[in-house]
Amino acid sequence: MARKFILFIFQILYRFIFKPLAFQVDAEVVHNAMTALGEFLGRSKLLRNVLALTFAKRPKNLSQKILGIKFNSPIGLSAGFDYEARLTQITPSLGFGFHSIGTVTNNSYDGNPKPMLGRLPKSKSLMVNKGFKNSGARAISNKLGKVKFEIPVGVSIGRTNNPQLGQAESIRDVVASFRTFEASKVSCSYYELNISCPNLLGTVTFYEPKKLDELLTAVDVVRVKKPIFLKLPITKSDDVTLSLLKVAAKHKIAGVIFGNLQTNRNDPALDKNEIKKFKIGNFSGKPTWQRSNELIELAYRNFKDRFVIVGCGGVFSTEDAYFKIKKGAQLVELITGMIFVGPQLIAQINQGLLEKLKADGFKNISEAVGTGVI
Ligand SMILES: Cc1cc2nc3c(=O)[nH]c(=O)nc-3n(C[C@H](O)[C@H](O)[C@H](O)COP(=O)(O)O)c2cc1C
Repeated sequence: MARKFILFIFQILYRFIFKPLAFQVDAEVVHNAMTALGEFLGRSKLLRNVLALTFAKRPKNLSQKILGIKFNSPIGLSAGFDYEARLTQITPSLGFGFHSIGTVTNNSYDGNPKPMLGRLPKSKSLMVNKGFKNSGARAISNKLGKVKFEIPVGVSIGRTNNPQLGQAESIRDVVASFRTFEASKVSCSYYELNISCPNLLGTVTFYEPKKLDELLTAVDVVRVKKPIFLKLPITKSDDVTLSLLKVAAKHKIAGVIFGNLQTNRNDPALDKNEIKKFKIGNFSGKPTWQRSNELIELAYRNFKDRFVIVGCGGVFSTEDAYFKIKKGAQLVELITGMIFVGPQLIAQINQGLLEKLKADGFKNISEAVGTGVI
């Protein structure tokens, strides 16, 4: 009860003091400052432990073993917040159960022309136009080589954002990143293969079954030792999505993530006036909510025995996370909810999920997975 109260106080302070101030400053500047602060806090064992006392309870009921990996909480940090792998030491203290770094690409990239990030408070969304800003697979794998992780850390891999690279070169480029990490000492637990970033230059696509098949055939050859989760778009029809899942099922893909950003500017969750401010970019948060849920359910109905399903998109509360779990997600990822509600959100969701499990008579979170699919 006392812990719940402390988390509530954090939420109030975030909502009425930190957020109004931070939202006055350029989103990219705040993001960089927050990741620098997170990296700094993560260096102190004392600070990590103090934070963990409030934020990181690890109840057995939320713990799952999936693909041989122990997840203390089903809530993870989605790819795109920590593209330089600066936060792996601090996220466990906030209650995260896992953490995806990246997306990392074979060659470094300084990011798309600005603006790369913007806020749409009315739509509960962020405009994203980074296009895989990162320092490249080699630099990041070198940086992480000696780092120990308290929770499962995954590396999200995508194609280098360079319009000069054609289809075949992009496949070789993705394979090269997998090889770099596999040959490194990075103790990651899983990979994400991100084929669904809508902010990349050029015409390369893996949304056609044949093209996805070519990519995954090349990745199979690497004989990656850790599970790979394929991150899919939320913008394709059910039929196209099923055809991509059928292809993925033939390859060494252990899980699927639904999904990436919203590209449809007419999505009803986007405020019509607010979106006019943004000429470029794609959208996170609530505009991704509905379609990601539909696709989680689609994957669960058709492939629940084949894939681990990771739900991602528009999670701002316990209810949102539990909804995705009941639709079939074993794990849930988020970014935007944390930015709008505050970093205490993860601990609040963990606490709230325990209450939901109790109310529904489940002993472990895994028992709730898919119970909302009739
Ligand atoms: C600032 C930002 C950067 C992102 N960059 C990536 C990325 O590099 N790779 C990726 O797979 N997804 C990226 N995404 C998409 C998120 O991982 C996630 O799929 C999407 O935002 C929906 O989740 P959310 O509503 O909880 O933010 C990014 C999202 C945001 C907000």
